[in-house]
Amino acid sequence: MKIAIIGSGNVGGALAQRWVAAGHTVLVGARFPLSEKNIKLATIIGEDRFTSVQSAVQQCDVILIATAPPAVFDVISQGGDFTGKVVIDATNSVRMAPDPYPTVFHAFAAKTPAAVVKCFNSTGFENMLNPVYRGEKIDMFMAGDHTQAKAVARTLATDAGFGDCTDFGGSDKVVLLEQFALAWINLAIMQGMGRDIAFRLVRR
Ligand SMILES: NC(=O)c1ccc[n+]([C@@H]2O[C@H](COP(=O)([O-])OP(=O)(O)OC[C@H]3O[C@@H](n4cnc5c(N)ncnc54)[C@H](OP(=O)(O)O)[C@@H]3O)[C@@H](O)[C@H]2O)c1
Repeated sequence: MKIAIIGSGNVGGALAQRWVAAGHTVLVGARFPLSEKNIKLATIIGEDRFTSVQSAVQQCDVILIATAPPAVFDVISQGGDFTGKVVIDATNSVRMAPDPYPTVFHAFAAKTPAAVVKCFNSTGFENMLNPVYRGEKIDMFMAGDHTQAKAVARTLATDAGFGDCTDFGGSDKVVLLEQFALAWINLAIMQGMGRDIAFRLVRR
């Protein structure tokens, strides 16, 4: 797949590494391609992968949003035409919703024709870099109404090394999936368990 990563921080940087390793074509759409952080990432994934937000979006079929939520409006205006694109929203709006929308997912769904799916928001970036615990793959989770976008998210989750991508349900479950991320944040940070914890669905 041709994947544009918008937001090359913890989450975008981790998934860029995983998807490059899996053989995908990854472009990073960055405001400042020559920032110290981006130069460090470029040494791992290749400096020819960095471009503007618009150029990344227009050259790719799949767009990962991994910015702080309020940046969604810049990304939508700079990205150009989102027709035919799958947008994967990895953000959590818990403390900074993109007003007037409750989440980045809702902003994209309202303001663009993209097929939007929520995914890669529910665990720490360290688990995206290494989703294997004691030889067992942990799970990723997704929500949204577009079957095709969910199929893309599932493929990219397993390509990143997750065991499966459990379907939380339609767009009515997007806020619940953000709250699920808060449950991980609560255990990892507020309850002091540390960031080396993860969720996995088990069946009898
Ligand atoms: N950290 C985690 O473990 C984790 C896990 C799951 C989900 N999330 C969610 O994922 C999102 C990103 O988290 P993060 O930890 O990766 O954040 P981060 O390390 O701060 O990275 C955010 C990235 O967004 C970029 N950005 C900000 N405004 C932008 C704009 N207007 N246009 C283009 N790029 C812009 C920043 O670029 P500059 O360097 O130019 O500022 C930076 O590369 C958040 O919503 C967070 O809640 C985080």
